[in-house]
Amino acid sequence: MLLEVKKLSKIYSEKSFFKESRFLALNKVSFNLQEGESLSIIGSSGCGKTTLGKILANIISFDLGSVRYLGEDLKKYPVARLSETVQMVFQNPYASLDPKLKIKSSLLEAFGNKKPADADKIMADTLKSVGLDAKILNNYPHQFSGGQRQRVAIARVLIKKPKLIIADEPFASLDIYSQNQITDIFKNIIKTTNTSIILITHDISAAAKFAKRMIIINEGKIIKDDTVKKVFAEKKDKYIVNLFSSTEF
Ligand SMILES: Nc1ncnc2c1ncn2[C@@H]1O[C@H](COP(=O)(O)OP(=O)(O)OP(=O)(O)O)[C@@H](O)[C@H]1O
Ligand SMILES: [Mg+2]
Repeated sequence: MLLEVKKLSKIYSEKSFFKESRFLALNKVSFNLQEGESLSIIGSSGCGKTTLGKILANIISFDLGSVRYLGEDLKKYPVARLSETVQMVFQNPYASLDPKLKIKSSLLEAFGNKKPADADKIMADTLKSVGLDAKILNNYPHQFSGGQRQRVAIARVLIKKPKLIIADEPFASLDIYSQNQITDIFKNIIKTTNTSIILITHDISAAAKFAKRMIIINEGKIIKDDTVKKVFAEKKDKYIVNLFSSTEF
């Protein structure tokens, strides 16, 4: 099993001089993901999706429960190896691309301290796989459109060859054409490599286009973990019906 999440809970606590407030952002979340399997995680704003993604990518800590990659406890996982296991793609590709660095430097950085002799070829091939030409290596992030920048950010993640990519609202601020292009790129990655991708979104149609399996979160809890087909066939729960009605067709 690539990923095993058991009874994962996250409490955000904020301390001020007078009081301490605690907020349960994730409440006993459990699910598994097999190698090469992909899924969409969907839920309304504030339900805990980004919190879950960041915990899985080891960007923030958690309070209760466990996360295991290939049977190994995330809390004991060697940090150097973790970046080969899981990588995150964010809503705002500016966040992962240094504006002062040419694309080439950003991509070279992704190799870490084990830059292969054929790095140039790998970079060119990876850019090609996300629909970009190697000529752009000498450009800066601001010279690209949002969709192109997101593709560069995906290329950067691909160079690290992770087993799991967590894409958190990667289409936000992109037009429908770029959204579809990125969905196709992700599907192609899944087909041609053994990489798993978790797509985090609040858009149920994007979630359905992307994966066969869907997890629905409401107020920090998983309320559904099933095939897209079944979720669409049932649509009983009021919260799920609302997710459907918020979809722009
Ligand atoms: N650093 C933090 N400190 C305190 N509370 C936080 C923090 N980060 C998130 N939260 C709260 O935790 C809840 C879940 O936030 P999260 O960002 O995971 O939601 P989300 O599902 O990704 O929402 P969106 O769809 O708007 O991105 C929200 O109520 C949010 O206000
Ligand atoms: Mg979020």
